Amino acid sequence: MQTLLLILSLCVWGCHCNARTTPRVHLSYKELLETKTIRPFSFSFNTSDYRILHMDQDQGRLYLGSREYLVSLDMQNVNKEPLIIHWPATAQRKGECKLTGKGGQGECANFVRLIEPWNRTHLYTCGTGAYKPICTFINRGWRAEEYLFRLVPGYVDSGKGKSPYDPRQENAAALINGNLYAGVHVDFMGTDPAIFRTLGDRPAVRTEQYDSRWLNEPVFIKIQKIPDSAEKNDDKLYFFFREKSLDASGGSAPSVLARVGRVCLNDDGGQRSLVNKWTTFLKARLVCSVIGADGVETYFDELRDVFIQRTHDERNPIVYAVFSTAGSVFKGSAVCVYSMADIRNVFNGPFSHKHGHNYQWTPYTGKIPYPRPGTCPGGTFTPDLHTTKAFSDEAVNFVRAHPLMYQPIYPIHKRPLVVRTGVDYRFTTIAVDLVDAVDGRYEVLFLGTDRGTVQKVIVLPKDISTTEELILEEVEIFKVQNQHFLFLSCGLQQQLYVSSERGLTQVSLHRCAVYGKACSDCCLARDPYCAWDGEHCSAFTPATKRRSRRQDIKHGDPLRQCRGFNAKDLECGPSLTLSFGVEGSSAFLECQPRSPQASVKWLYQKDGKRKPHQQNYCCFMLNISYSILIFSTPMTAV
Ligand SMILES: *[C@@H]1O[C@H](CO)[C@@H](O)[C@H](O)[C@H]1NC(C)=O
Ligand SMILES: *[C@@H]1O[C@H](CO)[C@@H](O)[C@H](O)[C@H]1NC(C)=O
Ligand SMILES: *[C@@H]1O[C@H](CO)[C@@H](O)[C@H](O)[C@H]1NC(C)=O
Repeated sequence: MQTLLLILSLCVWGCHCNARTTPRVHLSYKELLETKTIRPFSFSFNTSDYRILHMDQDQGRLYLGSREYLVSLDMQNVNKEPLIIHWPATAQRKGECKLTGKGGQGECANFVRLIEPWNRTHLYTCGTGAYKPICTFINRGWRAEEYLFRLVPGYVDSGKGKSPYDPRQENAAALINGNLYAGVHVDFMGTDPAIFRTLGDRPAVRTEQYDSRWLNEPVFIKIQKIPDSAEKNDDKLYFFFREKSLDASGGSAPSVLARVGRVCLNDDGGQRSLVNKWTTFLKARLVCSVIGADGVETYFDELRDVFIQRTHDERNPIVYAVFSTAGSVFKGSAVCVYSMADIRNVFNGPFSHKHGHNYQWTPYTGKIPYPRPGTCPGGTFTPDLHTTKAFSDEAVNFVRAHPLMYQPIYPIHKRPLVVRTGVDYRFTTIAVDLVDAVDGRYEVLFLGTDRGTVQKVIVLPKDISTTEELILEEVEIFKVQNQHFLFLSCGLQQQLYVSSERGLTQVSLHRCAVYGKACSDCCLARDPYCAWDGEHCSAFTPATKRRSRRQDIKHGDPLRQCRGFNAKDLECGPSLTLSFGVEGSSAFLECQPRSPQASVKWLYQKDGKRKPHQQNYCCFMLNISYSILIFSTPMTAV
């Protein structure tokens, strides 16, 4: 008797499965709701523009700001007793705002733009205040069980330099040691962007005003303190933004550039020049590009979002950044990953200098003053200088004229981790989780798109120079296309929180059951959160007994993992749909693997012949007079 042998094997690049852009599982909003792995939150008040402004892991609360409302949610279950504060701009202020001609799109309201922890019991919050930014304190109590969440009565602070006036202008902020550092537009017209320090005991300090060498129409994305050494005086603030290129006036130069900048936390400004301005401000270009087969480099310059993944070493977090192409030539986006070592190397390298008759950027080769620009006072290299006010005029003037580093910062391996071109969407946001699976630790990327979906992606090394990208799932979080923000909580909650114009949704990081009912489905899914437990595809935790768990992220080989379960699975069971078509004297066999990462091989063995005849296609014509019996025979896996 003849035997039909069926092999499931992994697809390689370039195969018909198109693994690069097809997710293993795609769930519409309705299908996602049916999996009961999401919880949408929105409340009945007239509001919009929900933003997650702070995640409080200690109290297990999520602080949300929207138009005229502040909300405190339980991270375990966002629908469990939300605590709500109504914080509108006054009617008088709204009236004044409208008189200035603003508010055509409803901007004459208080859009909450900042919530930062102030002390153990209080939060500090700011909003646009109908084009007159305001700030205040919120009392949230000592513990979540108090269910306390209310404004401190009668207290209002100016929000200038903390919150933008125009709700459409992006801002970023961090409250560190009682000082608020904000990347924000500080004027009514929205033409004066700055990195501003306010509050606290240190003097107010900002970037040089109206100097396009420092900031040129920036869009602020993220601000984060990252220590440079064990010496606290070396602590620096890094800020990620994009800005208009100075050389953008026509030609081939990019119009937008992605930047990382930094200042010393203990910078108090200069004594004679740069008074109340940063004297340690430097910035560098972040490059994310691919080199095509023709050697042409394509740049992704429009920085969209940054996720900073902590490591055991506080000084060396990993920086994940999402970019899209600027301009409209072609639509593409990419994820690039940067190391702090590479970022610091560029800040320790040459300064950029405009030079020569045609004004080209060149590395500065002259004498560099002491202390080297960008060095913090009282730090490892300047123990003799205790404040920036003691810096030499020469050093201060150098910084003013040379805030840009010459070298750009390239990503790890000098290439993006993920590239998406030729699709009709762009990535807008990113969150990253590190997951311990049976065969190692994986970084799982959650990528928000401008069509309201989130993709879950892992990237595996294939050989020394190439990687394999797997889109584990794409889920539709919002029914309408929307710019949305993505926040990830690791740890106990294992949840993703996605906020948008319309509301917030709490999403579980995994829904293993949707991969299918068979071991091979589970195995082929290659989702580090999921494993076959003998009966179901279910959530994997390293604590569960290893021997009973079947999981193979690296190879996704069901033949090895699912031995013993094969009879049920590989018989073109739930993981494959087998269809027969009888035409004349031959049968048409079609096997559709559910996983785009799987391809099907039919092995057809005639009596007596040792070597099976191999077909690498998903469909196979079989001569029916020879093989009619085969169909009643279970297919055997080899
Ligand atoms: C909701 O608020 C917007 C903006 O303030 C306003 O234009 C609209 O009329 C309000 N809708 C209702 C139902 O109150
Ligand atoms: C926290 O700060 C607020 C506002 O300044 C103050 O009223 C409160 O007493 C402080 N709480 C603690 C525990 O320090
Ligand atoms: C099927 O096999 C029979 C017997 O060998 C042969 O005569 C016939 O031509 C084959 N048909 C096709 C379509 O190959």
